[in-house]
Amino acid sequence: MISEKMNAALNKQINEELYSAYLYLSMSAYFEGISLLGFANWMKVQTQEETAHAMGLFDYVNSRGGKIELEQINKPQINWASPVDAFEAVLKHEQYITSKISELMDTAEAEKDRPALSFLQWYIKEQVEEEATAGDLLAKLKLIGSDANALLLMDKDLAARTFVAPVIE
Ligand code: FEO
Repeated sequence: MISEKMNAALNKQINEELYSAYLYLSMSAYFEGISLLGFANWMKVQTQEETAHAMGLFDYVNSRGGKIELEQINKPQINWASPVDAFEAVLKHEQYITSKISELMDTAEAEKDRPALSFLQWYIKEQVEEEATAGDLLAKLKLIGSDANALLLMDKDLAARTFVAPVIE
């Protein structure tokens, strides 16, 4: 069983994760538009990851006998001033998602929902990784500055990223 409050909070997080997928898909298109296809690939994989995060929550709600209620997904931004600007936005967004996962934990604590507390641990750890990765890529981009060769090398690196479905349990 799952309380109505916990159910609603998890449904809201499904929407946040799907919006994240949408945001990164929009960033993928932005990078494709400026011919940084490795960055575009990285963002596409990120979109798959976010979809997996949403599906983890979706399956969890169902497994606890809850009710899935999908909401409208907001329109993401479509342009950024530069790769640095885009990754500043990624880091900011991941910090926001971390705060949302913390709020979910607060709700689980208030509802004395131990299974949810246990389940959400995976998301807490994932957010540490997400923020670290975004921060690392942003720092590299800042180091690169206006060095086009270095930017193209980074683009080549990011082209190698492939999606590995996370095991959320
Ligand atoms: Fe689903 Fe990027 O956190």
